[in-house]
Amino acid sequence: MMSHPCLTVLGVESSCDETAVAVVRRDAAGTHVLSSVIHSQIAQHADYGGVVPEIAARSHVETIDDLAARALAEAGNPELDAVAATAGPGLIGGVMVGLSFAKGFALARDLPLIGVNHLEGHALSARLAEDVVFPFLLLLASGGHCQLLAVRGVGDYERLGTTIDDAAGEAFDKTAKVLGLGYPGGPALEACARDGDADRFKLPRARVGHKDCDFSFSGLKTAAAQIAHAEVKTQQDRADLCAGVQAAIARQLVERSERAMGLFKPTMDAGRPAFVVAGGVAANATVRQVLKDAAERHGFGFVAPPMRYCTDNAAMIALAGLEHFAQACNKPEAVAELRAQAMGVSARPRWPLDEARALAQPVHKTAGRKGAKA
Ligand code: KG4
Ligand code: ZN
Repeated sequence: MMSHPCLTVLGVESSCDETAVAVVRRDAAGTHVLSSVIHSQIAQHADYGGVVPEIAARSHVETIDDLAARALAEAGNPELDAVAATAGPGLIGGVMVGLSFAKGFALARDLPLIGVNHLEGHALSARLAEDVVFPFLLLLASGGHCQLLAVRGVGDYERLGTTIDDAAGEAFDKTAKVLGLGYPGGPALEACARDGDADRFKLPRARVGHKDCDFSFSGLKTAAAQIAHAEVKTQQDRADLCAGVQAAIARQLVERSERAMGLFKPTMDAGRPAFVVAGGVAANATVRQVLKDAAERHGFGFVAPPMRYCTDNAAMIALAGLEHFAQACNKPEAVAELRAQAMGVSARPRWPLDEARALAQPVHKTAGRKGAKA
């Protein structure tokens, strides 16, 4: 495949509670993040114990102009080849803010616009920091998503498993909330679990005996809430419950990942594939360690991108846009098509990465009318 000598892309991310803008360049020497600025809204949502969509959308509107100016200045105001923006899945008000900004920017500078699937950004994020080769296996575990994906190439993703209810990060956040540990709950729960006995409280094991790679965390969340109300009185009780919940989440992530490794490995021609872990939950030391051990047991190389690329950021969106634009650059008509379609790119609250699979085998029973969730 012919490759473009040098491409520079501006990326915009606004699908949840982070507003982010970045500039990424790829040249013969590799991939370079020229700038990556993020405004976290955590403080604005903390009082509510979770992300409030209306507050998020308003905050994106207030910050995006300044962030874009900063990202461009930090990158040295480079000449751009394209603009990429998250077009879904996510909180629709926020997605529309970032996408509308990107459309205006692209129109003003006569640049092509690429609407990026947020999950594709996560899927490719490991390639920002190192040259992870296709195909690889990805576990994406964040506050909004919990998926296992075979990443075979740019635009070629197979969903091996997803959550049938809550995401792993939600299980951390909601347990932390009932224990009064604050928002976001993951880091607080991890700290509290440090002095705890993970075996003290009996917690349910989800999806035992299921042969697929799907996750379920709602039973664990409910059991933890019941124990919290009935039995947690002291700091030690709290630490023991946190340790138990953390161990249960880690165990399920490992069990499902090991099953996916078993499915993925035979599809490889040769070599040692990478098992990439992305998303905020990958920051948890217990989770990280057990996944690393599992990867080694199954002959996978373990890759955990730096945290700044694991959690929501715009560099991964710029990279996903850049990878698609690079493919289009090989066909002049494809670039012309991108330019022609730019203003027609629409925001999608739901947008599965592996659309064919999500439509054929929906894990959410309501998927038919509303379209499959991410
Ligand atoms: O990827 P991310 O920053 O945002 C999206 O949800 O897309 O992930 C945030 C999630 C939250 O649920 C947060 O509680 C969880 O990642 N998280 C953690 C830790 N740090 C962040 N969960 C467990 N342990 C942590 N140390
Ligand atoms: Zn995300």
